[in-house]
Amino acid sequence: MTMDATRQRFLMCRPTYFAVDYAINPWMDPTAPVDADLAIRQWEQLRQVYRDLGHTVEEIAPVPGLPDMVFAANGGTVIDDKAMAVQFRDPQRADEAPAYRAWFEAAGFEMYDPKHVNEGEGDILLAGELLLAGTGFRTAHASHAQLQEVFGYPVITMQLVDPRFYHLDTALTVLDERTVAYLPEAFTPGSQAVLRRLFPDAVHATMADAEVLGLNAVSDGRHVVLPAQATDLAAKLRDRGYETIGVDLSELLKAGGGPKCCTLRLRQGKASK
Ligand code: ARG
Repeated sequence: MTMDATRQRFLMCRPTYFAVDYAINPWMDPTAPVDADLAIRQWEQLRQVYRDLGHTVEEIAPVPGLPDMVFAANGGTVIDDKAMAVQFRDPQRADEAPAYRAWFEAAGFEMYDPKHVNEGEGDILLAGELLLAGTGFRTAHASHAQLQEVFGYPVITMQLVDPRFYHLDTALTVLDERTVAYLPEAFTPGSQAVLRRLFPDAVHATMADAEVLGLNAVSDGRHVVLPAQATDLAAKLRDRGYETIGVDLSELLKAGGGPKCCTLRLRQGKASK
């Protein structure tokens, strides 16, 4: 088996204004304390892991009053030099959309605007030549048709059922062009059947792995960066030949986010898929 790492270009947002001030998913408890300095240190460690792996990390300036802006995966979907902006379900996050849109435009991407709720790479994951698109909590099903028109990849709708796994990237990780890891119970029976059909060799995660957001991982095809607490998943991935790198994002987990949520992949040119 060849396990080639692909150099990545990522967009991240420092959690300067991170807080848990509202609750828009079951992980968020505005009455629980958050260590804001620790959140920044943990995020810096994640950024360092990417740099050490040889990836490029771009940064968007954080905006005061937008505590969830650290979750850059929700800022857009970027494939083949095209960037689709986002439209959040919740008003608390609405103002993040134009900030990310302006960054993509300044960076020279061809821009597209969403017609329906679309939370970017939180729900939309490119797996080889397929665009896996989550729905059920955030991204509207109607947006899937638009994604297919804009990007020209077949869109496969994935119906999420567990409110703790509200974005597709909390329930499924793309490991490389052919393989994914996922939590079957996070999907409807029909979506589970589709996943079995498309990815018969997929890694199945346990509920214990998923409950520490272990599936909110970032793979370059060889190295998988995932929450350190997801030890069973890490062992399964190592059995498959991946190198795993555990990171601790305990403070960001209090907002329902992990490494993937903090990381938006900027895919440029057909070759960098
Ligand atoms: N508090 C954020 C929200 O509920 C967390 C977003 C996590 N991002 C992700 N890609 N799953 O919207």
